[in-house]
Amino acid sequence: MDKIKQRIDELINKINKASYEYYALDEPTITDQEYDDYYMELLSLEEKYPELKRKDSPTNRVGGVVLEKFEKVTHNTPMLSFDDIFNEEELELFDERIRKVVNNPTYTLEPKMDGLSGSLIYKNGILVRGATRGDGITGEDITENIKTIKSIPLKLTKDIDIEVRGEIYMSKLSFEKANVERRKKGENEFANPRNAAAGSVRQLDSSIASKRNLDYMAYFIPNPEDYGLKTQSDSLKFLKELGFKTNYKLNGYAHNTKDIEKYINNLSTIRKELPFAIDGVVLKVDSLDDEKKLGFTARVPRWGIAYKFPAEEVLTTLKEIKYTVGRTGKITPNAIFSPVHVDGSLVSKATLHNFDYIKEKDIRVGDIISVRKAGDVIPEVVEVKLDRRQDDSKETIMITNCPICNSNLVKKDANHFCTNDKCDSRKIEGLIHFVSRKAMNIDGFGERIVEDFYNMNYIKSIDDFYTLYKYKDELKTLEGFGEKSIDNLIGSIENSKNNSLERLIFALGIRYVGDKTAKILSMNYKTIDNIINADYDSLKEIDDIGEKIASSIVDYFNDENNINLINKLKELGLNMNYLGKEINTSNENINGKTFVITGTLSLPRDEIKEKIESLGGKVTSSVTKKTDYVIVGESPGSKEAKAKELNITILNEEDYNNLIM
Ligand code: IVH
Repeated sequence: MDKIKQRIDELINKINKASYEYYALDEPTITDQEYDDYYMELLSLEEKYPELKRKDSPTNRVGGVVLEKFEKVTHNTPMLSFDDIFNEEELELFDERIRKVVNNPTYTLEPKMDGLSGSLIYKNGILVRGATRGDGITGEDITENIKTIKSIPLKLTKDIDIEVRGEIYMSKLSFEKANVERRKKGENEFANPRNAAAGSVRQLDSSIASKRNLDYMAYFIPNPEDYGLKTQSDSLKFLKELGFKTNYKLNGYAHNTKDIEKYINNLSTIRKELPFAIDGVVLKVDSLDDEKKLGFTARVPRWGIAYKFPAEEVLTTLKEIKYTVGRTGKITPNAIFSPVHVDGSLVSKATLHNFDYIKEKDIRVGDIISVRKAGDVIPEVVEVKLDRRQDDSKETIMITNCPICNSNLVKKDANHFCTNDKCDSRKIEGLIHFVSRKAMNIDGFGERIVEDFYNMNYIKSIDDFYTLYKYKDELKTLEGFGEKSIDNLIGSIENSKNNSLERLIFALGIRYVGDKTAKILSMNYKTIDNIINADYDSLKEIDDIGEKIASSIVDYFNDENNINLINKLKELGLNMNYLGKEINTSNENINGKTFVITGTLSLPRDEIKEKIESLGGKVTSSVTKKTDYVIVGESPGSKEAKAKELNITILNEEDYNNLIM
């Protein structure tokens, strides 16, 4: 037995060393075949002698633990982030601020990894916990998923207790592969590697996370002094020695802003060739003593900053303008262009919003256009390179008929609409909306599946989702589906019957009724029958419901077809009641009052908002004459000034706590 235990230890050492060289250093010393042989030998020994299986065995990385939910964890030291700067001027100001406190600072310069930060805790050198940042104070325990990340050592080279912070990310290659898989399955593609990584660590089944090939770059030790470290660069070296992947080939130093700019320019040039997405440069004062002197503001460390790259603009050729029809019949022109990598993801189309937008920019097929990602995710066409336009290019002319059903289009304001209620495209979009995340949230229904099921006549109208089980045997035989995925799909459909009313109201797709309005309606009326019976005047009495929304709701429920649909859904067993918290209107300080929250408070804003709403108050984002109270935390910014200007009562956290008592 001892011999076997010894062999297991030996194999684990060999595999860990090989993984470190391969994943952390990118310098493998053994072949894949040798690695596989060790791995298989270890696996078979562990199968034969399960009592000898070590907790830190690399065979644990395949995942397989399925959790009910993620436990909340409180970070030992808050997980802060840095303030962002965007240009040289702001960089100069940052350097000036540092120089007021520190003589001749040295900065470490590191690529700003575009993923999500993760904290790892080791006890006696063994990984015991991995957590997300969350709101910085509390995060979620994602240990099982963390264990599947091969660049994270399960055991360190030293038997110490330590917390390590770094970025969980997905390489560009794994991101492309994951999207190929998702396309095949008809699932929505990940917008970028960051979303892909964030979605993957939040999987309750760790075998899914394991397949996503996540990675981890270590960059920070919250308590460096415990290990005798004197500088941030010492920390990075120490992390590498412990077995972590660090950016040691790309990290740099600088003593002045000129050198920092050089580093930034260089990194921004090679950014595209890097195997992972980065969105800027992180600057940290190297000396830990100096860091201490600089300290923190209420929100962020003063000793570092994140320089964000401007959104990348990439040139490509416009191949086609393709028109799509939304569920309201709205026609959206889309630019279809030669695929290009923008900020880490491959894009080939962008919305052109409406025809006025095309006219204003004079966008034509064949043009060279520059595209970038707006708000980080959705691609947009920035401009047309007019000087590179072909002589024979033709001005774009708006279509006059629906591209799907050929009905005439009408123009309302800037948009064109299909006039046919029964247009297939509108119906499909309506069905996609019904299952979407903010609506009924039915897992497993990608847009393509809805479209395919519509075209195959399985789902023609909303109620058909709930009788889909009748075709279970047929569906199982469809390409890309199996017993399990159809069972899951039908299970998710069944579950959605229990949703609270606001989801159904939003999912019905009533014009102008977004998820927020759906919630307000449901909170006020409690049951669908009450909403159906509500007249225009009583609807309009509700804050936030104006004339346009009120008449749209009345029109919707005056339509017999819609009432028939609701009756069918009732018969099928869908919940028609609001299940959220009751509103307690007894606190007159809060009920009916409007609040704005600004600055950092000790509780997360969402929690405060929920509390206020549960007492009948409302939380809005901007300070206006209608605001009753502004709750002010640390570093409040312009909203406090605006409140003073408008003479609105300002509450600090203590005042607020007294008010809700
Ligand atoms: S240091 C106090 N180093 O960017 C901040 N962060 O604003 C300690 N990030 O939320 C983090 N690359 O998720 C640090 N080399 C790097 C980083 C990095 C990316 C992320 C991190 C943090 C944000 C910084």
